[in-house]
Amino acid sequence: MQSLGGRSLDWVDGAVLMVDQTRLPDSYETLRIESVPDMVAAIRRLSVRGAPAIGVAGALGVVLAMQAHGTSGEGLDSAVAFLRQARPTAVNLARMVDRVAALAGQGIDRALREALRIRDEEIAASISMGEYGADLVLELVNKPSARAMTICNTGGLATIERGTALAVIQTLHERGSLAEALALETRPLLQGARLTTWELGRMGAPHRLLVDSAAPFMLARRQADVVLTGADRVAANGDTANKIGTFSLALGARNAGVPFIVVAPESTLDFETPDGQSIPIEDRDGDEVVSVRTATTAPENTRAANPAFDITPVSLITAIVTDRRVVRLDRGDNLDSVPLGELRSPHAEL
Ligand code: MRU
Repeated sequence: MQSLGGRSLDWVDGAVLMVDQTRLPDSYETLRIESVPDMVAAIRRLSVRGAPAIGVAGALGVVLAMQAHGTSGEGLDSAVAFLRQARPTAVNLARMVDRVAALAGQGIDRALREALRIRDEEIAASISMGEYGADLVLELVNKPSARAMTICNTGGLATIERGTALAVIQTLHERGSLAEALALETRPLLQGARLTTWELGRMGAPHRLLVDSAAPFMLARRQADVVLTGADRVAANGDTANKIGTFSLALGARNAGVPFIVVAPESTLDFETPDGQSIPIEDRDGDEVVSVRTATTAPENTRAANPAFDITPVSLITAIVTDRRVVRLDRGDNLDSVPLGELRSPHAEL
């Protein structure tokens, strides 16, 4: 098996190599994706998932489209359109597809350079979010170490390396300031149980797993000092789309007076979408609800609703941490009032 050197996906020998996240934690397998239809299928079945990671997958997918269809024409246009709509909620996918497709006329080498630049920007952003976020957590909890609750998977698997909310947890751990991470299992597809615990284990961080419905009670019992989540899209007013269950978690945090922090790169902020109502929410197959992995959990023909994401209103968010700034909503900041600051990464020259 070819190695990805700890990354979730990369460009290797003219194709995209990715960790098949549907197989974790049972087995670590990589997939080699050589065509746009295969990339769209991988994105839809969540072999690659997480907003920044599908943004990079889409960017590299445009290069695959150019390998098949050249630098212009109907074939390329329809492959690009097919890619950009593979999943609707995370703004990163369409945005990064568009960014690379806009350069198609300049040739495949130029397009590949741009896609790899997007990959490198996301790696640098993850390092920087970790630093900004860890500083904020320690300021808010006012203790030498923090207990952090988190939902879904926001680690290196969901970006390229390190992650968003989980990058903050990793940075706290590396600083000796993580007392415990509490991961929500994240039904229906168990990204928290399968992927976040796998990543926390690999980083040697202390952690426990919770069923989703335990979160508000655990917060009310003061079992966590802070909640950290990622985002699939942050609207201009700060309303945030993230994995289904995030809204309930935010309500639980507000009830308990626990800070609720959204961690997302600037590439996930969408100033063209005014508020949460305007964010498209992906509805997935009901089969995911009436089963857990291979086991059926409901009577045959049970109908299910399966929104993959929800919207947390800005009024429930304490702060939004990006790779370039901390927006303290609790202090009256908003996304327009806080200017971009430095990228806190060794790759800041990007
Ligand atoms: O359906 P998924 O697994 O792609 O959902 C992912 C999330 O909701 C993450 O929290 C989000 O992408 C932000 S973290 C990179």
